[in-house]
Amino acid sequence: MSDAMSAEFDTVAEWTATVARDLGPSYHVPAGCRGSGNPAALDWLIDELELRDGESLLDCGAGVGGPAAYAVGRKPVAPMLVEPEAGACRAARSLFGYPTVQGSADALPFADAAVDAAWCLGVLCTTADHVAVLSELRRVVRPPGRIGLLVFVARTPLTDDERPDGNHFPTPDSLRDAVAAAGLAVVSRLRTSDLPAMPGDWQDRVDRVDAELARRYGDDPAWQVSERQSGQMGELLADGRIVGEVLSLRQA
Ligand SMILES: C[S@@+](CC[C@H](N)C(=O)[O-])C[C@H]1O[C@@H](n2cnc3c(N)ncnc32)[C@H](O)[C@@H]1O
Repeated sequence: MSDAMSAEFDTVAEWTATVARDLGPSYHVPAGCRGSGNPAALDWLIDELELRDGESLLDCGAGVGGPAAYAVGRKPVAPMLVEPEAGACRAARSLFGYPTVQGSADALPFADAAVDAAWCLGVLCTTADHVAVLSELRRVVRPPGRIGLLVFVARTPLTDDERPDGNHFPTPDSLRDAVAAAGLAVVSRLRTSDLPAMPGDWQDRVDRVDAELARRYGDDPAWQVSERQSGQMGELLADGRIVGEVLSLRQA
């Protein structure tokens, strides 16, 4: 992982958990959603994956663990988190206490057909081998292969200078090919831009956490790098060069 991504996904992830703990339990889930953002996307995926009480849900590239906790708030599922960054693993464990394994999406530390469903939110564009990640998800999820993705897709390939450090955005064509090569099929999809805006109280909590992070760590190079990375993502989304897509997949 690039240094910039480690700053964002390791150091800042751990700071985020510290700030969320200090602010109180109502901040934990909004602070812990670091790519999936809008709860409407999670609601859509929870319905699409037809999650039932007690089923296992793998959160692949779980970050600080907010999406898994949000899912539990909607349905009493049993989350299992995989995340490569040690700081994010510690953050997720300390905030939510779910089983959290340090590992990579392209070599998941699970047996075949080990989980009922999985999602992978804002992760694919941070990995170089999209087929490997999707193939691993297909391998570890029991048939029919209920898999959810939130992916940032570049309308046309971006140069190294144009994309945040370490990112590998699929294009619409490369994503379609990777899904098929992994033996998966898209059953439904939507654009994050078509979702309702974030609820005001959720956005307020995210803003409060960000303000507190900036107050405590604003002078730290890791915070500045992370802000530059997320600023670049924001600009690419705002000018439409990348779009957020939410996909519901099954085995082909
Ligand atoms: C934008 S964040 C999203 C975190 C979380 N899924 C969410 O929506 O809140 C991307 C996450 O992908 C993780 N990641 C990067 N490379 C990965 C890999 N090879 N396998 C699994 N996760 C990875 C990062 O460490 C980071 O936590």
